[in-house]
Amino acid sequence: MRATAIAHPNVALIKYWGKRDVQSNFPAVGSLSLTLSGLNTRTAVSFEAARSTDEVLINGQSDQRAGIRITRCLDILRDLAGVDSHALVESTNDFPTGAGLASSASGYAALVKAAAAALGLDIAQSKLDEIARIGSGSAPRSLHSGIVLLDIASGGVDEMTCRTVCEPDAWPLAIEVAITSRAAKDVGSTGGMELSKKASPYYQAWVDTHPADLAAGLTAVEKRDFEGLAEVSEQSCLKMHAMAMSSQPPLLYWSAATVDCMHRIRELRRQGLPVFFTIDAGPQVKAVCLPEAAPQVKAALSELPGVLDVLDSRLGQGAWVE
Ligand code: PMV
Repeated sequence: MRATAIAHPNVALIKYWGKRDVQSNFPAVGSLSLTLSGLNTRTAVSFEAARSTDEVLINGQSDQRAGIRITRCLDILRDLAGVDSHALVESTNDFPTGAGLASSASGYAALVKAAAAALGLDIAQSKLDEIARIGSGSAPRSLHSGIVLLDIASGGVDEMTCRTVCEPDAWPLAIEVAITSRAAKDVGSTGGMELSKKASPYYQAWVDTHPADLAAGLTAVEKRDFEGLAEVSEQSCLKMHAMAMSSQPPLLYWSAATVDCMHRIRELRRQGLPVFFTIDAGPQVKAVCLPEAAPQVKAALSELPGVLDVLDSRLGQGAWVE
């Protein structure tokens, strides 16, 4: 009853920010994302009859806070399999954890994939997506390859679908990830989303205008319209951060180097280079570009004083069992 799975993190171009309901962790909006090759979470799950609780080790350290949500996901899988043994979960990331690089997305994707395999469950993909979502709203996207759409049903029904809308080789985008800090963030995404919902005057406008952004992002992908995707993605990112900043107390995820990267990327685009930025709940900047522009984008970002490292990524596969 042991299996190991590998998952890549993902980055949303049309962002998810806000939960319809914290308890069920159902997102208030859909999202459109890129699954990132080159960054890996590797998770081994073993169900052991002698254990009295689930134990979670992330990068070798016991993590009890993550353990609560992980147990919720494992409980659903245990019920489906008719098994009541507790599990040892050992997860390692080869990139900074909890620092705005979506380690929770790859973490929960690898977890549910490994746990289902360890339990010998033959489970529908949509069910696995749903269980991953209970762990992290962005996690179902890491179960899928390439460019991924997580769509929620209209009319307030808590139903979602998650699927690849463009395979990695159908539009081979490159992503250069500028690391400006390796520290874990102070306010995680769940706390940040709740604060925005409660205290940002822009929250309702975000929810109301989001379906149009998602539709525009999807059309740009379907048409392989890089300029169109650049425009709507940067706007979605800035809308999300404007909402975070306008919460009370305000949430500012950016460092000075984050802002320098944004300016540099916009300058490169003005000079004709196909590149745009996106930033999640942390100070790292992801520069999405056409592959031929990647070396120039990397060189330009590496030169900036606050940039510690630039990681290369392409579109990757959904989570798989090793
Ligand atoms: O799934 P969570 O709770 O890690 O939230 C993800 C939130 C953002 O990364 C900021 C946006 C997104 O859509 O990935």
